[in-house]
Amino acid sequence: MRSATPARIAVMASGGGSNLQALIDHFAVRGAQAGIIVLALSDKSTAGALDRARAAGIAVDVIHDPADGSSILSKLEHANVDMLILAGYLKLVPAEVIRRFEGCIINVHPALLPAFGGPGMYGQRIHKAVIEHGVKVTGVTVHFVDEHYDRGPIIAQWPVPVLNGDTPESVAARVLRVEHRLLPACAAAVAEGRIMLDSNNRVVGELAVRGSELVNNWKYTLAPDTGDSRAGSADDENESFFCRAPMQSDHST
Ligand code: GRF
Repeated sequence: MRSATPARIAVMASGGGSNLQALIDHFAVRGAQAGIIVLALSDKSTAGALDRARAAGIAVDVIHDPADGSSILSKLEHANVDMLILAGYLKLVPAEVIRRFEGCIINVHPALLPAFGGPGMYGQRIHKAVIEHGVKVTGVTVHFVDEHYDRGPIIAQWPVPVLNGDTPESVAARVLRVEHRLLPACAAAVAEGRIMLDSNNRVVGELAVRGSELVNNWKYTLAPDTGDSRAGSADDENESFFCRAPMQSDHST
């Protein structure tokens, strides 16, 4: 995505738009050099995401037929969009849109793909399945989008513990907080060209996301210099957590 002018970004959302809001807030702080959100699209004219965009002075439009790729493309081209972010967009993006934006379209998924992903796995269904399977760690995935549901190259993931007594709602709320951190960081990295897909469709680049997600006296600490990660206890000094996209060299094996 690196170019002389900041990336012009469109966000597609179907729901309340808290992830869109996190993107709006992040890019407002980072300044236009990172990227500019120029358009919000939804398959629902009443989506809260569109209200958030309007409040931020961002153009909005409605996708009347989510399967109509040429109509979606014409909206994106009219707004001179360089990059597409799916932030809680629940419809399958037509293949012609994905091909046109290959390497410049990313999605956030509220689980650690490939687990709890694929057609039909969205929203509360994911967190209900997480509880039913008794997993102890769920999380967030941000990935490039390809023509298969939730199957594109992964940019970053962040673990979120599942605690005793959790409900799908409490897991969803904990995961959503992490989405609001991870998606904007990945979006800015792709918009600025710090993370990209190489010619072999592999994610290259590096991303450091600092966050002290202290949850129930359990947190991740990662020694930045060694890359060794270990579950820490609440009295650990280092409160940073780094998600690191594999560098090209990591594929040396
Ligand atoms: C998020 O959990 C997202 O991962 C999922 O749907 C939810 C959207 O929330 N696809 P919001 O509309 O961004 O508040």
